[in-house]
Amino acid sequence: MSSLPKQQRVLSGMRPTGALHLGHYHGVLKNWIKLQHEYECYFFAADWHALTTHYEDPQILEQSVWDMVIDWLAVGVNPGSATLFIQSRVPEHAELHLLLSMITPLGWLERVPSYKDQQEKLKERDLATYGFLGYPLLQSADILVYKAGLVPVGEDQVAHVEMTREVARRFNHIYGREVGFEDKVEAAIKKMGKKNAKLYNELRRKYQEQGDDEALQTGQALLENQQNITLGDKERLLGYLEGSGRIILPEPDALLTPASKMPGLDGQKMSKSYANTIALREDPHQVAQKLRKMPTDPARVRRSDPGDPEKCPVWKLHQVYSNDEVRAWVQEGCRSAGIGCLDCKGPIIDAIQAELVPIHERAQEYEKDLGLVRKIIHEGNDKAREVARQTLTEVRQAMGLEYR
Ligand code: TRP
Ligand code: SF4
Repeated sequence: MSSLPKQQRVLSGMRPTGALHLGHYHGVLKNWIKLQHEYECYFFAADWHALTTHYEDPQILEQSVWDMVIDWLAVGVNPGSATLFIQSRVPEHAELHLLLSMITPLGWLERVPSYKDQQEKLKERDLATYGFLGYPLLQSADILVYKAGLVPVGEDQVAHVEMTREVARRFNHIYGREVGFEDKVEAAIKKMGKKNAKLYNELRRKYQEQGDDEALQTGQALLENQQNITLGDKERLLGYLEGSGRIILPEPDALLTPASKMPGLDGQKMSKSYANTIALREDPHQVAQKLRKMPTDPARVRRSDPGDPEKCPVWKLHQVYSNDEVRAWVQEGCRSAGIGCLDCKGPIIDAIQAELVPIHERAQEYEKDLGLVRKIIHEGNDKAREVARQTLTEVRQAMGLEYR
């Protein structure tokens, strides 16, 4: 049974913003690297999402995508375990986005908090566009086109996954009703064989009559393992189990990524827009240079002035990189002016440089062999497309668009 979670497909996207930094690594990528061993993972470059805000700078897009992909590979996102691809190379995302737009109330999009927030934040850009309003729905299409079960995202994206659930529910409600549903369900149950049919009916009763969530989950797992029934029948039986019509687009769950503890060079969150980053492919001298120039407790004007680590962004880095012994040394040395700030930064400089060594090595390999990077992405595009194509066939059929 240890293979059960594998059935959940994990999907996440990242907007290509160019070379990635330590904030991405500690916040998002380490999590992807862990997930790729536990689930069937799909990770993609959300280039269309980048265009919703940066439609005026198309010239930076391609380089940003390749830089981002190289950084994924350099930190250990493994194309042997996870499918890596580019959103716009899988046009099914766009088709599903369009089809979902037919049933998505405007209010749902206008009410998503990021809509107004981002418009406020990016005032210099004109974001009163159709594309920007549709940002979360495009994201819904990204997720639903793979029927993903889990979507690793940061706090700021949870509302988008929530909306995706609502869109899926509405879709299934409208298009999951079909003539002869009950008859088809009955025929499908028979196809599972006597034993499984009996088990299915029992589990369904337990869930529907007693609200037994475990029975629901066991029932879903039972259906996943059926080899004798078609995808359409599986959707009917999943829906029938829950008491709805056919579930064509399953509702995903957000998998909340814990907020990164990685501070930027000024103590704020590390972010390109604050110009406080250390890039993953930053050269070691530059890394040392940036850290040496980092501000410290403003009260330590002279070497002989005692300081307070709580008021110092360098201390936040010790909390990420240093062991108890080093931390005790900092606390004591800072408060007593026993150590200077450059001394204090020494172990951080060493730790970050060491952390980046294997990343640089791998990045160099890929920089030298861009053909390999392209090949990885082409294979990922094809694999993703295959899954997306199947979903679209079903969606078109449900929406009356399958002309024969
Ligand atoms: N909007 C996400 C972000 O800004 C990126 C994204 C696009 C995404 N499509 C997605 C994340 C689908 C998860 C699933 O971070
Ligand atoms: Fe910050 Fe360290 Fe200097 Fe104290 S000694 S102010 S913790 S850099």
